[in-house]
Amino acid sequence: MNGGLLVKVIVIYESKYGNTKRVAEMIIEGIKEIGGEVSLSGLNETDFDTILKYDAILIGSPNHMGGPTRGIRGFIDKLGKLQLEGKKFAVFDTYMGKDFEKAVKKMEKRISERVPGLKQIASGLSIKVLGMKGPIAEGELQKCKEFGKKITTQLKSG
Ligand SMILES: Cc1cc2nc3c(=O)[nH]c(=O)nc-3n(C[C@H](O)[C@H](O)[C@H](O)COP(=O)(O)O)c2cc1C
Repeated sequence: MNGGLLVKVIVIYESKYGNTKRVAEMIIEGIKEIGGEVSLSGLNETDFDTILKYDAILIGSPNHMGGPTRGIRGFIDKLGKLQLEGKKFAVFDTYMGKDFEKAVKKMEKRISERVPGLKQIASGLSIKVLGMKGPIAEGELQKCKEFGKKITTQLKSG
């Protein structure tokens, strides 16, 4: 569609204390470094119909009680109503303690079940925070940027 030159990505996240938002911002830095065009949107600011303009949707949630937030679950369910065939997705979470990748895996499963037209670009990114309100553990932010770069490179290669 765009010859692999321009890829448009939207990053939608929920964040109670700002850590998942910070992760989203770092992913975006990575996307921009590779020349992707990207929009950032908090869950409640998301203009649902504009989602169709993007090649890829990234969805981020803090781990709340072992999974994504209720808001993110509802958002995924709503995506099922859009025609998203041929578009791509990836997810990310923030977690504390032992819940590495738990919310990410649940989001991936929910998307595959409820929005089957969306295809996964990369396996989800799970970022550790040191307490309920953060901060993000040392070394984790670099992974976010790499994740953004990896996704954009893959989207560009089709
Ligand atoms: C209501 C609530 C439930 C939580 N439950 C879990 C949990 O089950 N497992 C876990 O690893 N972290 C849990 N956490 C910690 C969150 O993952 C942490 O607060 C979050 O990553 C911070 O992200 P944010 O700044 O974007 O809100 C919980 C936090 C809240 C507020």
